[in-house]
Amino acid sequence: MLVDEIVVRRQHLRRKYRRLQHLYRESGMRGMILQAAHQLLTALYHHDVQYVFVRRLDGQEQQGSLSEGEEDRDTDWLLLESSTTLQAVTEEIPMTIRFSIDSLRKKLQEGGIVILVRRPRQTGAGRTVIGYGVYQQGVFPFLRRTGKVSADLLYCHYVEVLPEYRGQRIHAVIAKAADAYGRRNGAKQHCSTIPAHNRPSIRGTLRAGSTVVGKVERVLILKGFLWWETPWEEVAAALSQGRPAQELIKSLAL
Ligand SMILES: CC(C)(COP(=O)(O)OP(=O)(O)OC[C@H]1O[C@@H](n2cnc3c(N)ncnc32)[C@H](O)[C@@H]1OP(=O)(O)O)[C@@H](O)C(=O)NCCC(=O)NCCS
Repeated sequence: MLVDEIVVRRQHLRRKYRRLQHLYRESGMRGMILQAAHQLLTALYHHDVQYVFVRRLDGQEQQGSLSEGEEDRDTDWLLLESSTTLQAVTEEIPMTIRFSIDSLRKKLQEGGIVILVRRPRQTGAGRTVIGYGVYQQGVFPFLRRTGKVSADLLYCHYVEVLPEYRGQRIHAVIAKAADAYGRRNGAKQHCSTIPAHNRPSIRGTLRAGSTVVGKVERVLILKGFLWWETPWEEVAAALSQGRPAQELIKSLAL
């Protein structure tokens, strides 16, 4: 057990070091300083605005939902429901993903699921992860104070496609796998929160059949020592009505 923990910690440090190396290669010392300054300012004051996207998983498939033909022959996906299954595939996960292996493990331990999309390695030996999504039923973690969140809701914590594979509809493969999981487990709605400026994510999410039903905001001061957020009742009402928020939709510069 202790040996396992040491191995995991070493993997974690190695991944952190590789990510720093990657950042340095991509943006140099200036980029690293800017990132450190950004993190410091964010710790002092942070204002976050995200749009709430919903698509129904029950009933008829909505217009704009996915057709079968969007996966190519080489692309496959794996559904992980426990941290043990994650351990078996860590070698296939590139060091540069934004959600660390430790965070993936934590989400699995908290009852979430992870969908990994893989393609054969270019060297020909084995497969490599090119994108992933992290989901959980019955939560709405953007807000600190929520009332009861129904298990009907499948929440998308995060989706990422590695930069060299973006624009190839890998997001659609992840969304389709997540929706299938949700339907099998009785979820009636798929929900995600996305900043209005994240155009690629919004376009992928709209293409998967989602619509904007509202907006959530939070202000965190001194790393959350003081905070304010959109009242849960407002969000819960938007989720249960599921009505497209036309004004917000118009404001999206797509
Ligand atoms: C958001 C994301 C998962 C989309 O994945 P994807 O598989 O590239 O999605 P799609 O192929 O459906 O493309 C979606 C949009 O990305 C944009 N896009 C296309 N090629 C791109 C590229 N090479 N690089 C960046 N964005 C690109 C386009 O706007 C595209 O929509 P369009 O084809 O209708 O113009 C991916 O861009 C990503 O990992 N981004 C960083 C992490 C992130 O922001 N996650 C979401 C958090 S809310």
